Amino acid sequence: MSDPKRAADSPFATEVEAGKSYFWCACGQSQSQPFCDGSHKGGDFTPVKYAATESKTVYFCGCKSTAAQPLCDGSHSKT
Ligand code: FES
Repeated sequence: MSDPKRAADSPFATEVEAGKSYFWCACGQSQSQPFCDGSHKGGDFTPVKYAATESKTVYFCGCKSTAAQPLCDGSHSKT
C-alpha cells in the first residue's frame, strides 16, 4: 500500500452541521480538501465518512498521517 499524499501541513478547520455526513479525503489527491472529490479512484485509498452529531468546528486532518481519521491528532507536527 502506498503512502497518502500530504495535502497540507495543518488541519482544515471546518464548520460541520448536525445530521450531515462528510467524506474526508484519505489519499491526499483531492482538489477540494479536506473532502473527497473522487481522485482516489484506482488507488489504495477510499474516503472516510464523518457523520456530524452536532454543529461545530472540527479539524480534519490535512497531512493524512493521523491515527484518528478523519480528524487531526497532531501527527502533522511529528512527521
Ligand atoms: Fe482522496 Fe477520494 S479523493 S479519498
